[in-house]
Amino acid sequence: MEFAVKSGHPEKQRTACLALGVYESRRLTPDAEQFDRACGGYLSNLLRRGDLEGKPGQALLLFNIPGALAERVLLVGCGREREVDDRRFRQIAAHAATALNETGATDAVVYLADLPVKSRDLDWKIRRLVEAVEESQYRFDYLKSKKDAPRRPLRKMTINVPGRRDLPDSEQAVRKGVAIAGGVKLTKDLANMPPNLCTPTWLAEQAQALSREFPALQVSVLEEAEMAQLGMGALLAVSQGSAQPAKLIRLDYRQGAATQKPFVLIGKGVTFDSGGISLKPGDGMDEMKYDMCGAASVLGALRASAELRLPLNVIGLIPAVENMPGGQATRPGDIITSLSGQTVEILNTDAEGRLILCDALTYAERDEPAAVIDIATLTGACIVALGRHPHGLLSNHPPLAHALQTAAAASSDRVWELPLWDDYQEGLDSNFADIANVAGSRDGGAIMAACFLSRFAKKFHWAHLDIAGTAWKSGKAKGATGRPVPLLTQYLLDRAVEAGWDHDRAAH
Ligand code: BES
Ligand code: MN
Ligand code: ZN
Repeated sequence: MEFAVKSGHPEKQRTACLALGVYESRRLTPDAEQFDRACGGYLSNLLRRGDLEGKPGQALLLFNIPGALAERVLLVGCGREREVDDRRFRQIAAHAATALNETGATDAVVYLADLPVKSRDLDWKIRRLVEAVEESQYRFDYLKSKKDAPRRPLRKMTINVPGRRDLPDSEQAVRKGVAIAGGVKLTKDLANMPPNLCTPTWLAEQAQALSREFPALQVSVLEEAEMAQLGMGALLAVSQGSAQPAKLIRLDYRQGAATQKPFVLIGKGVTFDSGGISLKPGDGMDEMKYDMCGAASVLGALRASAELRLPLNVIGLIPAVENMPGGQATRPGDIITSLSGQTVEILNTDAEGRLILCDALTYAERDEPAAVIDIATLTGACIVALGRHPHGLLSNHPPLAHALQTAAAASSDRVWELPLWDDYQEGLDSNFADIANVAGSRDGGAIMAACFLSRFAKKFHWAHLDIAGTAWKSGKAKGATGRPVPLLTQYLLDRAVEAGWDHDRAAH
């Protein structure tokens, strides 16, 4: 898919398809109005006859409009003008994208970035349009013998912006949108892979492949023997019931000043979570192939960072394991020693994510990070608490939580903070080890999991994103979402700007 920006009159566009907005009820947007005047009131006549109300989700495709240079015009319902907010604009963009893929036109000029959206700027709107088109064209059909791609999808979208002055910033917005969409696509592809193919070893190979594509990303992989030597008893305890060897995948992206401390992203990479000896019930167990979505999002965010050539130092750490109930598997009651030296009583082998993450957190200490963010499909309880819209956010450093909230708003990849008060910590007391891997009750499960992690994150600023409810969709639309790649990339973008990044210069 190709994207471009330009600024010009709608009636002058020689294109296969022109997309124009119509507000409810039957009111043309200013661009549509201008086009209407040039073609003798063709559109306003049509609206007067009641062919399109302008409700969100409505669209009308017109051909051979007298006096028009465009071969087709797609009218896109935008709802009431005063109600166009964040959510509505994204709906409009999604509907426009779907409709454009079905027109048969392979290129289009779109007049939707000019719609005023409450407290959102042009950069934001352009990025949402790019995302919407990429989302509408995503398929995971590598493993189907018959592909289900649209017949003639859109190949090039030109986004019109209000004035020529807006062009340089708009080009940057497209660049950011495209880089993030590339990261999202990678993350979805990795996550949607079946768990017989997507093993820890395969994930490590994918990281290597990414580093061949983006040489600024260096990859190294720790094998089980090396992890054992280091003392990663928690990570290895999870893996020992599986026939698949564990891998600790490390990606180094060092494009910042040598003196700049690195940002570390840690992604939970459980390629399949059967629960282990604390076996999960059968219903929907296939979705536990998505238990590596945190890992996939780290690869996606690093891909986007590399594509944008952000002048930062970023490290990705991916503990990759399979949680299976083999004969060597960890039993409930086992006590292991983590890399930190803290002993852990494993009361439930299904609380495995925290066990692999705790060793990765301790391992991150040696990089003296500016901040550490872990991303994990960690708890069903997070879905109970927050539903499937925001990621759960917990942090030991309020400014870091705040920076993530800011990035979440800018990227429309939402988070909601949960408390991490010391009052919760005693729930993890164990009679036999330093700490238990689960609390005695189910109360506040997402918080208790974060409390566990916090014991291993005392030496740096740390935030935890619980993406259990957001990383994939269930039901008919089952599939990975690619979140939180937009959030993570935006967070890094913001850090790059803080460090004086000039994205105009970086583009050339
Ligand atoms: N990967 C799961 C969490 C999960 C479950 C994410 C369902 C998305 C949907 C995690 O490893 C897990 O099993 N967590 C347990 C923790 C419990 C044993 C304290 C859970 O949420 O039930
Ligand atoms: Mn589990
Ligand atoms: Zn899990």
